[in-house]
Amino acid sequence: VYNSFLKCFSEKTKSPQSQITDNVFSQSNPSFSSVLRAYIRNARFNTSSTPKPTIIITPRSESHVSAAVTCSKTLNFLLKIRSGGHDYDGLSYISDKPFFILDLSNIRDVSVDIASNSAWISAGATLGEVYYRIWEKSKVHGFPAGVCPTVGVGGHLSGGGYGNMLRKFGLSVDYVEDAKIVDVNGRVLDRKAMGEDLFWAITGGGGGSYGVVLGYKVKLVPVPSIVTVFRVEQYMDSGAVDMVYKWQSVGPKTDRNLFMRMLIQPVTRKKVKTVRASVVALFLGRADTVVALLRKEFPELGLTKENCSEMTWFQSALWWDNRVNATQEDPKVFLDRNLDTASFGKRKSDYVATAIPRKGIESLFKKMIELGKIGLVFNPYGGKMAEVAVNATPFPHRNKLFKIQYSVNWKENSAEIEKGYLNQAKVLYSFMTGFVSKNPRSAYFNYRDVDIGVNDHGVNSYKEGEVYGRKYFGENFDRLVKIKTAVDPGNFFRNEQSIPTLKNAK
Ligand code: FDA
Repeated sequence: VYNSFLKCFSEKTKSPQSQITDNVFSQSNPSFSSVLRAYIRNARFNTSSTPKPTIIITPRSESHVSAAVTCSKTLNFLLKIRSGGHDYDGLSYISDKPFFILDLSNIRDVSVDIASNSAWISAGATLGEVYYRIWEKSKVHGFPAGVCPTVGVGGHLSGGGYGNMLRKFGLSVDYVEDAKIVDVNGRVLDRKAMGEDLFWAITGGGGGSYGVVLGYKVKLVPVPSIVTVFRVEQYMDSGAVDMVYKWQSVGPKTDRNLFMRMLIQPVTRKKVKTVRASVVALFLGRADTVVALLRKEFPELGLTKENCSEMTWFQSALWWDNRVNATQEDPKVFLDRNLDTASFGKRKSDYVATAIPRKGIESLFKKMIELGKIGLVFNPYGGKMAEVAVNATPFPHRNKLFKIQYSVNWKENSAEIEKGYLNQAKVLYSFMTGFVSKNPRSAYFNYRDVDIGVNDHGVNSYKEGEVYGRKYFGENFDRLVKIKTAVDPGNFFRNEQSIPTLKNAK
């Protein structure tokens, strides 16, 4: 397979032999393992029994990507596309069928043009690199995207993308002006050439179903020269229940310059099992203003100026990445890709449209103490989010109060321990049924969760795809299926949760 691939790849790219062998890795290549592991971001999929690709291709140009697509198709091999490797269930680099990995980490240019208020950001760039390159050119421009700096542009933007400016600006995909993709025939297409349907699909409908995204042109957003961050914690026996309950009516409705994330975690404090609720916030303005605002709207939080730190927007991104001394940090840390570092983890998601009653919060805390480890993250919506039409992009969850992320991480490499934590996630998800969206119970595509359905791409492909597809995309699923059928009728671009074609739909 390797030799046939090399022959095809060199014929198509006409690249020098050394460039080809340096970027196409068979399992016997001494670098195979380090190339594979570099962007595995969940240690659950980094074990000796995890299925390995037959070949890894690390293209350095558009023509390499194009050749990788046509040659994989000719050899009839499944192609998994990986940018930053942050897929929570590892779908960009594992499969139970024979497969190749197309790893875009070398396609990483970021070019920022302040004069036109825009940037081209390549699929293999990380969000940290995007923020850093913006910071190099301007202290009053930013981009609304995720909090973790090593997340890849390719998966993040093709799946929606949100961060702590979501209430002010909406999602990353609301700022995409153009894109480049390699289609199933190996053609490189920009927005004009691909047409508005395919362009729409790759701004939130999930990469990996329609082609290989090379990059996006995005609009930058204005940020104040000084912003404020704060963190306030309360425990179950000292106000956390009231704080979480009240947060539901403040977080999604307050000034859109304010994003207050709520973290809820079972902990042991003074030898007693309890729950800690922490508000972690970004305010696009000064500390005095946010303290006065929340004294009025959210006295249960007890925010004081001492809790607040003022800094630049870029420093706030460092702070949100758990760098408490953000103002002292070297900005270059955001260029660090931290290769081959991952803990074990599982994520799930839900949406809430009606506030959870106070009694519900109490019972939730008790359940979390009983389970012992799994935590929740509530991300408030409202503001700009509610102003964008549900079909403007494939991301449909615009009119919600907040999103829930179920989150559990661990360090032990043990099947028994993993089973226990995965079970905690399932039990808490089931416990939440009465409090979250229904018909369908919705989920955020970028919080990949194979528990909500997978696809074998056999005769039941459409039916299987509808199960997870409607949870992720609501009614936008139908348009995504039509686009998929038009651009990739043979279903070459597929994974366990890709969009099916209309074949066997009836
Ligand atoms: P990865 O390379 O694993 O790809 C994810 C999916 O997209 C796969 O199906 C893959 O095939 C496909 N894909 C990737 N590149 C493609 C390309 N070029 N063309 C076509 N398809 C492509 N999300 C969020 O919205 N806000 C946040 O703050 C965070 N924070 C966060 C922190 C951490 C630690 C993790 C692990 C994840 C997040 N996420 C997140 C979720 C993140 O947005 C999501 O996992 C993205 O899909 C990751 O993109 P990567 O390119 O890194 O992943």
